[in-house]
Amino acid sequence: MVLWKFTLVMRIDIITCLPELFDGPMNHSIVKRAQKKGLIELYIHDLRPFTINKQKSIDDYAYGGGAGMVMMIEPIDRCINELKKHSTYDEIIFMTPDGDELNQSTCNQLSLNKNIILLCGHYKGIDQRIRDHLITREISIGDYVLSGGELAAMVVADSLIRLIPGVLNDESSALTDSFQDNLLAPPVYTRPAVYKGWEVPKILLSGNEVLINDWRHEESIKRTKEKRPHLLD
Ligand code: ADE
Repeated sequence: MVLWKFTLVMRIDIITCLPELFDGPMNHSIVKRAQKKGLIELYIHDLRPFTINKQKSIDDYAYGGGAGMVMMIEPIDRCINELKKHSTYDEIIFMTPDGDELNQSTCNQLSLNKNIILLCGHYKGIDQRIRDHLITREISIGDYVLSGGELAAMVVADSLIRLIPGVLNDESSALTDSFQDNLLAPPVYTRPAVYKGWEVPKILLSGNEVLINDWRHEESIKRTKEKRPHLLD
């Protein structure tokens, strides 16, 4: 008997000038399942219809000169205003290499929100006034520059969606992911127990849950020391 039912827990609106980029990654696997289960609603908004010029351009030369175009203020402001007519947003997030670096604790925190907007930048960036007046948070997925914020927005959306209760089934629970307790996940194995003479650690075949959990914890610590020692500080 089903005693309870998951209800919509998060709405994500993504603003982009390249909506077609989202067709693949956001329509498969876990993200698709989350939408089907009604746990998330994901809307991709094309910025271009919000332009106010005949050419439908969304970028212009930078004041003061210099190389690179800047995304104009009007289409972004108009698009955000349109969205705000129908929902209130907990966060309006700009994806940018100079934002706060994404980590698991930010993902956990963001996954508790009801409604968020992810704004994807392009070219040399967006008019600073958007950042000053409309954006509530700026996120980078690492110290490197992508051609646009779309891949970064997909990374954020994916990392949040998998944390929403009911999205993953129990055995792949997000609580056992790397970083959830500031430790990397331990090594995992599946059948066969021996392949080309390469053996699965005996303890994992012992059936002793306590010993297996201890082993996994020790392996997590070992891996974290080797690969991300700063997490143990
Ligand atoms: N846009 C371009 N590069 C980016 C990055 N590293 N993180 C977030 N958004 C970006």
